[in-house]
Amino acid sequence: MKAFIFDLDGVIVSTDRYHYLAWKQTADGEGIYFDEKINDRLRGVSRMASLEIILERAKRQYSEEEKQALACKKNDLYRDLLRNLTPKDRLEGVTETLAALREKGYLLAIGSSSKNTPFILEKIGYGDYFDAVSDGNNITRGKPDPEVFLKAAEMLRLSPESCYVVEDAEAGIDAANAGGFFSVGVGPASRYEKTKKPLASFSLLREL
Ligand code: BG6
Ligand code: MG
Repeated sequence: MKAFIFDLDGVIVSTDRYHYLAWKQTADGEGIYFDEKINDRLRGVSRMASLEIILERAKRQYSEEEKQALACKKNDLYRDLLRNLTPKDRLEGVTETLAALREKGYLLAIGSSSKNTPFILEKIGYGDYFDAVSDGNNITRGKPDPEVFLKAAEMLRLSPESCYVVEDAEAGIDAANAGGFFSVGVGPASRYEKTKKPLASFSLLREL
């Protein structure tokens, strides 16, 4: 194995709460029921696909323009919340573990559905850290499609078989497996039956 490709949200940094608050305010504004359980289904899923899940509870149809406007509103609220992010928001064990993996000679990349990836990486002090960044801005199909990870492997000039993919979402594990990567699950993905290597903590990556 030559590289690790990391999902961003829920693996490197915790943005779940901010996604939730921004979607909640957007849904409330439309009178659409939304709760934490529905929010769990949005993990790893693209912005527009997330909106479609939220609109399952809507009492009327929304036009394409209205959907774009709602996605935009959510993102403005979300970006506002992200302004408070600092390197302290890296998840537990991330800083030391990434340094140790790099020391061992692994290449390190990001594979995230988020279009806010460059902004978030900058905020948490990882603007120039990774060997490759593949994100929501350079893909046409979101997870569970493997495109975002395949692009990351291509940037690293590696084949999927020589890369671990570290994920917290089921959609991300499905994407990794579909692309021929070795899937490693943390958080919720450590309890998913399709995860090839479930881990109880991020720091355990050093023992792979
Ligand atoms: C993923 C999150 O990383 O990015 C999803 O887990 C989110 O919840 C998706 O919807 C898209 O993010 P963004 O920042 O492009 O709206
Ligand atoms: Mg995630």
